[in-house]
Amino acid sequence: MDITSVRQELPAVENLIHLNHAGVSPMSRRCAEAVKAHTDDVLHNGTRHSAQWRRGVERSRQRLARLMGADPAEIAFTKNTTHGIIIAANSIPWRDGDNVIITDLEFPANVYPWLSLERRGVETRIVKHRDGRILVDDVREAIDARTRAVAVSWVEFSNGFRNNMHALGELCRERGAYFVVDAIQGLGALQIGVADAPLDFLAGAAHKWLLGPTGFGYLYCRTAILDELVPAMVGWRSVVDADEYLDYKLELRPDAGRFEEGGCNYASALGLGEAVGLLLEVGPTEIERRVLRLTDVLIEELLRAGFEIRSSRASGERSAIVSAGHSQVAPEVVVAALVRENMIAVVRDGAVRLSPHFYNTEEEMHQVVAVMRATCSVGARAAAS
Ligand SMILES: Cc1ncc(COP(=O)(O)O)c(C=O)c1O
Repeated sequence: MDITSVRQELPAVENLIHLNHAGVSPMSRRCAEAVKAHTDDVLHNGTRHSAQWRRGVERSRQRLARLMGADPAEIAFTKNTTHGIIIAANSIPWRDGDNVIITDLEFPANVYPWLSLERRGVETRIVKHRDGRILVDDVREAIDARTRAVAVSWVEFSNGFRNNMHALGELCRERGAYFVVDAIQGLGALQIGVADAPLDFLAGAAHKWLLGPTGFGYLYCRTAILDELVPAMVGWRSVVDADEYLDYKLELRPDAGRFEEGGCNYASALGLGEAVGLLLEVGPTEIERRVLRLTDVLIEELLRAGFEIRSSRASGERSAIVSAGHSQVAPEVVVAALVRENMIAVVRDGAVRLSPHFYNTEEEMHQVVAVMRATCSVGARAAAS
């Protein structure tokens, strides 16, 4: 990969060292151009090219499917991650007294859709982390005969702990529970092949590791379970022959498209297709290799600078997110110092969260840690005096 030419795809590198891809990422140039081109087309031509937009949306679906190793028929476009999880949570055929298992490291997108099922007699069980890690044995322990679903993040948002998709998925299969995954902190940075992974739903959105637009997401749903589900929201585009407007026939589409209840956000769908196109060109293997190398460098340098690493460093548990704390300097002070130097990081769960993507460089990691080290030596001297 030629990093210099790839960086031209990300004009934000001229202004910033952006290490908040776990928050909202800079868009790739080609994504922004697709969004603008669509908006201009509507401005000047109305619906004249609508057949072309539709073909473009299907191309985006195919690319996203390729990125995760799915069949395009298994993907529905959504508004955001939460929307996808709400669809999964409300389409599972629950019986009164069933339960769902989540963890206490989840972003609330993967919490409230489950808690709100209480009105349908569904209990939400929360497995506690141990020192920032979710143990498969603890999930196993929480499962009983009434467990209908387990819902976790592939990568936990605050400390970047990577859950074991295979082990959790196998456990769900064994126990007859649906496996629902919030993939927003993984897909685009780490590799997955959903066809080989025992999971049922995978929900995420475009604005983090995919380098796409905000307010647009996806839901993967395994074809084999489609007919067991009772879609929560059925609308005019959920049915076959959706364009036969006055022929009211409630025959659901045979694919995950049945979860797309109404009109499409074309600009974002087309933008996402371009954003994913860039990731496919670089290649998921190369992207994962680079993000793990960059986080290796970050971790080594942060340790040398006196920071404590809050993320798991065990093989298979690492991701593109590094969480670091300092015994004498508050994370807010460190983040403010970084922002003054046009370096973007955030505070999560009482620590500095750094989340580089493949197009960042080792040199940038050194520059960021240099600012953090300098801030902490000033802070530590002030504390000592
Ligand atoms: C794990 C996780 N899930 C979901 C979201 C966001 O959800 P949505 O796409 O619905 O805004 C975030 C962060 O914003 C997150 O870190």
